[in-house]
Amino acid sequence: MEKKNIDWSNLGFGYIKTDKRYVSNFKEGKWDEGAIIDDDMIVMSECAGVLQYAQTVFEGMKAYTTEDGHIVTFRPDLNADRMETSAKRLEMPVFPKEKFLDAIDQVVAANAAYVPPFGTGASLYIRPYMFGINPVIGVKPADDYQFRVFTTPVGPYFKGGVKPLTIKVSDFDRAAPCGTGNIKAGLNYAMSLHAIVTAHKEGYDENMYLDPKTRTKVEETGGANFLFVTKDNKVVTPKSDSILPSITRRSLIQVAQEYLGLEAEEREITLEEVKDMAECGLCGTAAVISPVGKIVDHGTEICLPSGMTQMGPITQKLYDTLTGIQMGRIKAPEGWIRVIK
Ligand code: PLP
Ligand code: COI
Repeated sequence: MEKKNIDWSNLGFGYIKTDKRYVSNFKEGKWDEGAIIDDDMIVMSECAGVLQYAQTVFEGMKAYTTEDGHIVTFRPDLNADRMETSAKRLEMPVFPKEKFLDAIDQVVAANAAYVPPFGTGASLYIRPYMFGINPVIGVKPADDYQFRVFTTPVGPYFKGGVKPLTIKVSDFDRAAPCGTGNIKAGLNYAMSLHAIVTAHKEGYDENMYLDPKTRTKVEETGGANFLFVTKDNKVVTPKSDSILPSITRRSLIQVAQEYLGLEAEEREITLEEVKDMAECGLCGTAAVISPVGKIVDHGTEICLPSGMTQMGPITQKLYDTLTGIQMGRIKAPEGWIRVIK
C-alpha cells in the first residue's frame, strides 16, 4: 500500500478528507449491518433531531504506525464504553462495543494510506459520532440515528508543538452541576466556543474552567484534562463529576505509577494550590500532553517553575513513555494496543 503524498511532519490539527468512512443506521429499533462508504456528505431532514436539539455524541481516538510497521489503536474499548455512557445520557441507542471496535478497525484499514508513517510525529485522528437524524419538533429524543466514523491525519493540536501554553482562568462555565460535563456531547463544545474565542482574542491558548458549583476547584479545558506534578514529584489530576473521564489521563496515572515509580492520585485540586505545583500539562487524545507554562487568574500570573521554553522533566517522562507505548517502542500493559494490520 502506497502512502498518500502528504507533508506528514508539518501537519496541524485540521480536517483533511480521506477516502473512506463508516456508516451504520438505527431504524425501527435496530442497527443495520454497517458499511464502508465513499460519500462524505450527509443528507438529512431540515428538522433532524441533531439540528434542532443537538442530539449528538462523539469520540476522539488515534491510529499510529508503530516502529515495526503495524497500524494500531490505543485502548479503543474505553472509547466504546464512554460513547455508551454519552449515548445513554442523551437518550440515544447504544452502538454495541463489538460493532464499534470492528467499525474502527475497518475504517482505519480502509484509510491505511493516510496513517502517518512512524517517526513523523503525526497520527490518524479517528472521529466516531452518532446523531438523531429523523424529524423532531417537540422536545424529545429522535427515533432514528446514524453512527459514523471518519478519519483525518493530524499533527499537534496546539500550534508550536510542545511550546508551553498560557492558560486563562475562565469566567464562563463549561458544564453545570449535575449536567453533561462528564460525557462527550457536541453541546459541551458549543458551550465553550464563546469562551475560547474570547481567550484567543486576549492572547491565551486555552481556558481553565473551574467547578461550576463553587468556582474554587480546577476542572478542565475545552478539550483536555489537567495534569499537575507537585514539588515532591507526585502526579495529581483533578477529580470531578463534571469533567470528561479522559482516557489519556487515566492511562498516564497508570504510567506514572507502574513505569515511572511515581505516586499518582486523582483528587480535588483547588485553584489556590496551583501556585504550589511544579509542572502542569493538558492531556487528551488530541493534546497528548501539552505543557502549560503559565496560568493567569484575573491578572494574577501563576508561573509554573518548569518555565515557558520546555516541558517539565516529569511531564517529559510521562510524554515519552505514553507515546513510546502508543508507537510500539515500549511494551504496553495488557490490552492497551489493538493491532489493525
Ligand atoms: N476533556 C475534554 C473536554 C475533551 O474533549 C477531551 C478529548 O477527548 C479530553 C478531556 C481528553 O480525553 P481523552 O484522553 O479520552 O481523549
Ligand atoms: C480529542 O482529544 O479527541 C478531542 O475530542 C478534543 C477536541 C478538542 C479535538
